[in-house]
Amino acid sequence: MAEVSLKNIVKTYGDVRAVDDVSLHIHDKEFVTLVGPSGCGKTTTLHMIAGLIDLDGGHIFIGKRDVSELDPKDRDIAMVFQNYALYPHKSVRDNLLFPLRMRKIDKNTADQRINRAAKILSIEQLLDRKPKQLSGGQQQRVALGRAIVRDPAVFLMDEPLSNLDAKLRLQMRTEIKHLQQELQATMIYVTHDQIEAMTMSDRIAVMDKGKVQQFGTPDELFNHPNNVFVAGFIGNPPMNLIPAQIVSEGGDKKLRMGQITFAPQSARVHDLINKAVGDKVVVGLRNTAIHMVAAGTPSAINTQVYTVEPTGDVTYVQANIGDKMCTISSPDVAYRGRLGDPITLKLDENRLYLFDELTGKAIV
Ligand SMILES: Nc1ncnc2c1ncn2[C@@H]1O[C@H](COP(=O)(O)OP(=O)(O)OP(=O)(O)O)[C@@H](O)[C@H]1O
Ligand SMILES: [Mg+2]
Repeated sequence: MAEVSLKNIVKTYGDVRAVDDVSLHIHDKEFVTLVGPSGCGKTTTLHMIAGLIDLDGGHIFIGKRDVSELDPKDRDIAMVFQNYALYPHKSVRDNLLFPLRMRKIDKNTADQRINRAAKILSIEQLLDRKPKQLSGGQQQRVALGRAIVRDPAVFLMDEPLSNLDAKLRLQMRTEIKHLQQELQATMIYVTHDQIEAMTMSDRIAVMDKGKVQQFGTPDELFNHPNNVFVAGFIGNPPMNLIPAQIVSEGGDKKLRMGQITFAPQSARVHDLINKAVGDKVVVGLRNTAIHMVAAGTPSAINTQVYTVEPTGDVTYVQANIGDKMCTISSPDVAYRGRLGDPITLKLDENRLYLFDELTGKAIV
């Protein structure tokens, strides 16, 4: 296994900077996920690591080796694609054998590796079947098996679960994470699903427009987002992001959000406001950092219910704060307010984030 370093890698297609000066250092045995919206450059980055796309700039190291100019076959990586790419006319065993034959691995070693992979993935009883005689999840396991038998330094996976139904996706998510730990493998995994990224990874690189917006552990990204993009991307439901203006009233600085003027009570929020460069900011509050309280509670915000969404163990309430529709977790799962019902909301100032509206950067 090996560490992987991307140093200032660049890929341009015409006017589009698909990958724009990306640098990441991935440790040996680490599970790192590239996550971001469609078109942000995840696949391009992964294909550059695999050697399927040439670099326009920068360097890629696997272990201590600069592999930037090497052919894919010489990089000691194995890639799992979204569409399994199994050979339909070969049995499962022959699908697993094929990459080993290509590398002229002797028969004994090949058999050992195939049996080990089949055992790890619980596909021993499927070895004589053809791909079309397998379920989607079983086919995905064979695709993983084909990567495992190669015994590569690094595994690369591009949305390997996106063709599976929701239930199977959850199951395979657990299996891939378990597999990575069992094999002690270095894994670079691509998904646009932030929950998948959060649940599987040691660290996550959040990408947008070809750039890494933040690289950190799931906890760091959730609790200390660098900017508005990461704040809005990580977490489900996403963080409420409310445009606000800093105003002075009676010598006190307050936050005006639409029709509401909010007077912070805590030194912490006053401190953040004082650090703001301009007067335009974005207030960030997670759904659990806005509390429904009794009418008349001091320094709370009065608004109305827009919708109520029960999900079973959590009930979400949507309501406007200022001009922004916000999602709040109701303290009472049985709450079933109707459109226009008055509610009172208290903002948790210990968990209030402030971002510069112009740059999007977190004010800390
Ligand atoms: N061969 C190509 N020619 C021109 N533009 C390309 C090519 N490949 C990718 N792009 C562009 O580069 C950008 C990044 O594409 P990429 O496939 O890396 O995105 P992605 O993050 O993997 O998206 P998705 O989640 O949809 O798979 C996009 O704007 C895309 O249109
Ligand atoms: Mg992609």
